[in-house]
Amino acid sequence: MSESAIFKNKSKLSPRYLPEELPHRQAQIQQIVHVFSDAPKDPDRFPLNVLQVIGAAGIGKTSTVLRSFKNLEELFGKSRLTLKSVYINMKLQGGNKFAIYRFLLEHIAPELPAQGLSAEEMLRFLLQYLRQNSQYALIIIDEIDYMIKSNKDTGIIYDLTRLNEYELDKPCNVKGVIFIARSMEFYSKLDAAELSTLGRVPIEFHPYTMQQVSDILESRAAEAFNPKAIGSDVIDKVASITTSAEVNSDVRYALDLLLYAGNLAESDGSGRVMLDHVRKVHGQIHPSITTEEIEQLSKNHLVSLMALVRALRSKKKPYVGLKDVRLYASELADQLGMKKIDIEDYLDDLNARKLVDIKSLKAIGLHGASLAELEPILMRKFKGEK
Ligand SMILES: Nc1ncnc2c1ncn2[C@@H]1O[C@H](COP(=O)(O)OP(=O)(O)OP(=O)(O)O)[C@@H](O)[C@H]1O
Ligand SMILES: [Mg+2]
Repeated sequence: MSESAIFKNKSKLSPRYLPEELPHRQAQIQQIVHVFSDAPKDPDRFPLNVLQVIGAAGIGKTSTVLRSFKNLEELFGKSRLTLKSVYINMKLQGGNKFAIYRFLLEHIAPELPAQGLSAEEMLRFLLQYLRQNSQYALIIIDEIDYMIKSNKDTGIIYDLTRLNEYELDKPCNVKGVIFIARSMEFYSKLDAAELSTLGRVPIEFHPYTMQQVSDILESRAAEAFNPKAIGSDVIDKVASITTSAEVNSDVRYALDLLLYAGNLAESDGSGRVMLDHVRKVHGQIHPSITTEEIEQLSKNHLVSLMALVRALRSKKKPYVGLKDVRLYASELADQLGMKKIDIEDYLDDLNARKLVDIKSLKAIGLHGASLAELEPILMRKFKGEK
């Protein structure tokens, strides 16, 4: 680790880090753990439970579920039972039901070959494997609303919520399936059978208050910053920005602000994060695009997005046609030594991710972010990657 006056450990602000403590989500963790807490006593008789977690962006849904499942793994461990939890993020994994089940099988039963199996066989093998090895599993399907919007393969919900019906006379060793979504909008895309197995009562997460965001950032900052490098004035400022209507309590944005403000303080040698660092960074980055969202994009996504940015800039209009974007995309692909890509698919996907706004093939623009905000972020990403 490099010496820094500001940071003790920068990676503790990264979206990939799962903190040990999640202030103001203890009740939700308990609620989830409680559903399964009797399972270790008599696991084979314990039924399959389906849960849903619903709430806005960046308010701790994924972290809370992951932390709860870690606690449950320990709880099972205390009874000398093996519980495996598998996390599948639809935005990252993408793909169809087949790819998802293969991923499941590879995680739970790595020694079984998934090649050449049908989707149904994969699930059957998975259940058999768990039973034969006396192991239990929990499955997390994250960003389910994104999946339903982008490929409509709702069969996954139907299959996974009925895993206990595959072999009715035998116990089902998958004890829980938990779906995470930003809102309940996706219900309207499901049919009656899917809706009924999903269970209609979701666990709803509400946005944090300003005081709660302050507490959360206090605990995150204690892990990431040197104690003298950041004060409660800065934390409170970030908390107040974060709970504004524009950011809507998205803690991911708050962590980005802390990270970038810390970087700025580091590079100008001030030895301490100041309110001005926060203000400056908040003026440059934008809540509608977080670093995590950019990191989730493939190279082809980035080229498509950058091509759109260039087309918008050169036309000086809020919307441009697909033809224009194509032109810039092939130029960019040339520059980067990449093969030509079919940008239409990527733009569609960026539309589903709410980064791009497609009104029609003749009117494509940006969704929330403005050019001035998006361009520097993309440029940084491009320079970093090449
Ligand atoms: N209570 C908390 N304590 C500490 N960190 C938190 C807390 N809530 C959220 N975070 C942090 O904020 C970031 C966003 O949280 P998380 O990914 O769990 O949100 P989410 O609700 O799943 O958002 P999305 O809908 O965008 O997926 C993560 O880096 C997480 O560690
Ligand atoms: Mg999440």
